[in-house]
Amino acid sequence: MNQPVISDEQSLHRSVSSSSRALPLDGVRRWSAFGQYRVPLIWLMACFVVSRPACGADGLPSAADGSQSAAGQQLAAKGWELLRTKPYLPPDFDAAVFSELWKVWEPEARNRAAAASPEERRRMTFSRYGLMPVPDEPDAKTALGYVATENSGWTMNCLACHAGKVAGRVIPGLGNSHTALQSLTEDVRLTKLSQFKSLSHLDLATLKLPLGTTHGTTNSVIFGVVLGNLRDRDMNVDRSRPSQTLTHHDMDAPPLWNVRFKTHLYADGFAPKNSRVLMQFMLLPENGPDKLREWEPDFDAILAWIESLEPPHWPFDVDQSLADAGRIVFDEHCARCHGSYGPDSEYPERVVPLEEIGTDPVRLRALTIVHRQWMRDGWMSHYGGDPVDVDPVGYVAPPLHGIWASAPYFHNGSVPTLWHVLHPGDRPTVWQRLENGYDQQRVGLEVQTFEAVPDAARTPWQKRGYFDTTKPAKSNAGHTFPDDLTEPQKMAVLEYLKTL
Ligand code: HEC
Ligand code: HEC
Repeated sequence: MNQPVISDEQSLHRSVSSSSRALPLDGVRRWSAFGQYRVPLIWLMACFVVSRPACGADGLPSAADGSQSAAGQQLAAKGWELLRTKPYLPPDFDAAVFSELWKVWEPEARNRAAAASPEERRRMTFSRYGLMPVPDEPDAKTALGYVATENSGWTMNCLACHAGKVAGRVIPGLGNSHTALQSLTEDVRLTKLSQFKSLSHLDLATLKLPLGTTHGTTNSVIFGVVLGNLRDRDMNVDRSRPSQTLTHHDMDAPPLWNVRFKTHLYADGFAPKNSRVLMQFMLLPENGPDKLREWEPDFDAILAWIESLEPPHWPFDVDQSLADAGRIVFDEHCARCHGSYGPDSEYPERVVPLEEIGTDPVRLRALTIVHRQWMRDGWMSHYGGDPVDVDPVGYVAPPLHGIWASAPYFHNGSVPTLWHVLHPGDRPTVWQRLENGYDQQRVGLEVQTFEAVPDAARTPWQKRGYFDTTKPAKSNAGHTFPDDLTEPQKMAVLEYLKTL
């Protein structure tokens, strides 16, 4: 139950060609007349969990061997149940809005949707916005990542970003590298207006804050900052705090099955791992401190679910002798940062200074010291009882379990395959993925590459389909350590990485 169930849904999206894109207008600026942004999505960021007791002396949770205690399994099962059934925020939209989203698509896609059956149209809608079908529940009312609520409402939750698919298979806990949250929200807003329905927190939030400029990534970190900034250290709503400089930037949600190996969360490892940090996404002003306290046990369960996750196994063939050779190279060149794997595995959770790692600096710098201190001094960190690093120097070298499945790579998702990680000079400047394509040779996303975003991409939806590494916060530079390897060594390491 708590495993990242792999359910085959390849057929679901296959028939939808990647040419169905484009939005009529970029709603963010146009609709700014609606003004009055109300704090919305903390939950977007729920990403900040905290809970000291989860880790043993060696930093590994007691369940690191995959064998959880019965009580732990029960708690994890409850966490999964809560994620599937309990709404913590008001609904984002209802089924009537969802079923008419296609009416605001650009003409070509709209015509195809109009001619399609309702089931096919629903599949097209899932495909367009990177929504995941619920594994093994063909009749589910909502996508995975949304909880069905009264009056056929859809309420977004963690799984919108933390359930993804690789090679066409849905895997809870995998980052959703297809999510098109900004595009979805813009279309929802237009559709609601056409149906004379009122706008919800997310619709309003995106009038002021971008949710993500490239499909597959989100600006969730800055949403966390905005929501946190409206609270005092005890989580009371406090609108008097000075506003902060917001450096918008998009992140690739990391796979959650590695959380159990960590004591700290996030790309720079600044936040402690506990269930309160995970509650950031619920800091909408209507959720006062009492609500947060009431929900804390729920988030203990959700954290238990996260820590119960196992990485998916490479489903294709492996050249075992090549992988064995790769292991030796890896242990010599990579393990000091990424740890070692197998029976005597260990993970150093190393933060590598920015000057040494050389990957995009924006994420590290975008989180202000004020925000970090707010977490250090307040309820989320048990008033400093759980250590918060208010001045981290770089990025954490993540564990590489199931790394074959979690493309694209680096914290900003700028590199489409492991081959490109290993060949720093050959990384594509602009790339676009195929929806369900998996590149078994290069290990990662099957992509088309470009020198620049093609002129044919005109609408916001079309443009967001391209990852453009020349844009701010989207650099694919750095992590040049593989340059020390010969080509045969790189090929051996690539084979070995498939086995982790
Ligand atoms: C809109 C997308 C989005 C939503 C919704 C979201 N997250 Fe995240 N999550 C992210 C991104 C992006 C990161 C990486 C942030 C960083 O490293 O700074 C992240 C990071 C995390 C991490 C840290 C993982 C690690 O290895 O350090 C955890 C744990 C987490 N999220 C849990 C949750 C939970 C629980 C929820 C729901 C309450 C949630 N997230 C909702 C996008 C999202
Ligand atoms: C000095 C420390 C260090 C060394 C040595 C190192 N790495 Fe890394 N690696 C990192 C850091 C830090 C990151 C995260 C960078 C980021 O996201 O900006 C990373 C990221 C990665 C990623 C992407 C992970 C993800 O989830 O996106 C892969 C794959 C990887 N490294 C493989 C390797 C391999 C293979 C080697 C050996 C040839 C190696 N690394 C050597 C520090 C290191």
